[in-house]
Amino acid sequence: MAKVCVMEHPLIQHKIGVIRRKETGSKDFRQIIGEIAMLMCYEATRDLKLQDVEIETPICRTTAKELQGKKLAVIPILRAGIGMVEGMLAMIPAAKVGHIGLYRDPETLKPVEYYCKLPGDCAEREVFVVDPMLATGGSAVAAIQMLKDKGVKNIRFMCIIAAPEGIEAMQKAHPDVDIYIGAKDECLNDHGYIVPGLGDAGDRIFGTK
Ligand code: PRP
Ligand code: URA
Repeated sequence: MAKVCVMEHPLIQHKIGVIRRKETGSKDFRQIIGEIAMLMCYEATRDLKLQDVEIETPICRTTAKELQGKKLAVIPILRAGIGMVEGMLAMIPAAKVGHIGLYRDPETLKPVEYYCKLPGDCAEREVFVVDPMLATGGSAVAAIQMLKDKGVKNIRFMCIIAAPEGIEAMQKAHPDVDIYIGAKDECLNDHGYIVPGLGDAGDRIFGTK
């Protein structure tokens, strides 16, 4: 079974506290989502492999480290996942970016696919799927299945807030995918929103409603 890692870092916890507040407006919400993504990326890339490389400093030749092997890709689930991309790229600027468009039908809560554009060599990359919210898990499970159907094998999922129901659904459908979570919340309400959560992440990032 893949790992489920809940980030304990105080900066992440503090920033999640700010975006949960209903009085936090779109401008701050967007900025802080980006900052949280950057901090989470730092933690979620802890186990990337390094290799030695011979370099020359202005002083002498030496052995330095560089990331080994697989190239990286960041794949946000539209719309809200877009809010995490810039923060991820601040840490891993050479990563390619793909997009998966899914929205959750408000009645059935089932994901509806409307867009998919991935880097051509996505199957050879280490892929970070990002979405601030893991509620029923329907969207993340479907997005990751879309990637697997296209041959992607190395997938990690990052979300800022997760409900236990979503974590369970992910582990059942994709036991090979490591999950990185900012905060694990209590439950879902009758409308499929995470409690206490932060409301609708897409609406809060983009100022829609
Ligand atoms: C939100 C969120 C996730 C999904 C989570 O997107 O960003 O993608 O809901 O819910 P689930 O785990 O029950 O599938 P939403 O469907 O509201 O679309 P949006 O990002 O375009 O607002
Ligand atoms: N999507 C959101 O944006 N928020 C939730 O609480 C659940 C799904």
